[in-house]
Amino acid sequence: MFKLFVNPNHRMGHINPELQGNFSEHLGRCIYEGLYVGEDSDIPNVNGMRTDVVEALKEMGLPVLRWPGGCFADEYHWKDGIGPKEGRKKMINTHWGGVVEDNSFGTHEFMELCRQLGCKTYVNGNVGSGTVQEMSEWVEYMTFDGVSPMADMRAKNGHEKPWEVDYFGVGNENWGCGGNMTPEYYGNLYRRYQTYVRGYSGAHPIFKIACGANAADYNWTDVVMGTCFKGTPENFHGFMDGLSLHYYTVPGTWEHKGSATDFTEEEWYTTLKKCYFMDELVSRHAAIMDKYDKDKKIGLIVDEWGTWYDVEPGTNPGFLYQQNTVRDALVAGITLNILNKHCDRVKMANIAQLINVLQAVILTDGAKMVKTPTYHVFKMYQKHQDAELLESFVESEQIGIEEGNKVPNLTESVSLGKDGRIHITLTNLSAKADYQVETQIADSQVKAVEAEIVGGEIHQHNTFEAPETVTVRSFDGAKAEGGKVSFTIPAASVLHLTVTV
Ligand code: AHR
Repeated sequence: MFKLFVNPNHRMGHINPELQGNFSEHLGRCIYEGLYVGEDSDIPNVNGMRTDVVEALKEMGLPVLRWPGGCFADEYHWKDGIGPKEGRKKMINTHWGGVVEDNSFGTHEFMELCRQLGCKTYVNGNVGSGTVQEMSEWVEYMTFDGVSPMADMRAKNGHEKPWEVDYFGVGNENWGCGGNMTPEYYGNLYRRYQTYVRGYSGAHPIFKIACGANAADYNWTDVVMGTCFKGTPENFHGFMDGLSLHYYTVPGTWEHKGSATDFTEEEWYTTLKKCYFMDELVSRHAAIMDKYDKDKKIGLIVDEWGTWYDVEPGTNPGFLYQQNTVRDALVAGITLNILNKHCDRVKMANIAQLINVLQAVILTDGAKMVKTPTYHVFKMYQKHQDAELLESFVESEQIGIEEGNKVPNLTESVSLGKDGRIHITLTNLSAKADYQVETQIADSQVKAVEAEIVGGEIHQHNTFEAPETVTVRSFDGAKAEGGKVSFTIPAASVLHLTVTV
């Protein structure tokens, strides 16, 4: 029996809805086919956006979408993607499969997509191969309300009123595909570029994000924070509102990452161990940020995370298309629990990527669409959006096959939702074992408990032929008595309990 303690008297921080954000790059079939099919397509659409996909994402509660990349962002020239479509420049997508990008999805289309989704906008600018002027004009084009060359051009292109840019990234992976820079060099460039990411009077405020570290590159965080430092640790004014972090769960090596669906039990644990590393990463980057910014004014923005496997056999290696199993559901549940628990510092996170790429929530094949196990976990975790994190602790033991490659059998996070109820999300990392859990809710009498679950045999996944193999199912095994809720959590599952006290 494992005990899970919840203290409703102690609120630990606010969980931004944006912790459940997503990312859409001009990569493979994410934008084209996945999201955008064009007005003339036979696939039902509104202004070119797939209706089935938009509906599914609204149901999942997508809070924010990042675009246009990724590595693509530092080669993207936004002016190529505006104006009449027939006149838009074509380019080679050098990073992703060398295919022709016809720029038919650009700024207006992205804003229209976010309008349909009802989500916040996160636009990533080009530092690697773009100029300060180009970035500055993009921000003017999107946000300036008044008479100016860019605002006039926007009006001429059919959108008189400015849009709201909620988040703006100043470059992407500038330590790698975004220019192979040193942190010293990038930190100084960041100071310069961000100066011209103007907050125009009366415009919606823009949250500026500096390019952060690749996984465990703690020096990058230290140097960029130090370079962009203003004030004192007690009264910190950075030039940025957020600093990013990218970390992917790759079960094998970058050369042989491993299959998405065909893996051993040992690989199951390796994957979950690598996923669980996010906790250490966030803690250590946050500790460095604390040195400069004691009051946690700068958000850590985990704007790329998720599993990265070998592509599905027979698909374009540059398209990063992979299946998604119960293992991915666990990666999603574990990661979201970790991010919730760090909500004092983590202000946004964006799983990579939305559709047909890496750990996608949706897969499409022409007109067909399927929701992945990861989708269902996000849908269940929606109740944590805008909630207050509650103090909690779960007893656990180390499990796994190889010494040195073990993980805790259980992870949890708990919040007080906007609905006034307590939401507990618990993951069982064991491939085979069920565990009895007794939840104790301090100073409370439980009036009612409801539960739902995503899980199954570790390799199970959804296909276009069998789309409901892994989905959210109701779970009737939770029993309430006094201040306690008892249940047995099945192997390889993510459980959500809604407790009324
Ligand atoms: O998500 C795929 C790629 O991974 C992104 O383009 C890049 O930022 C990262 O390396």
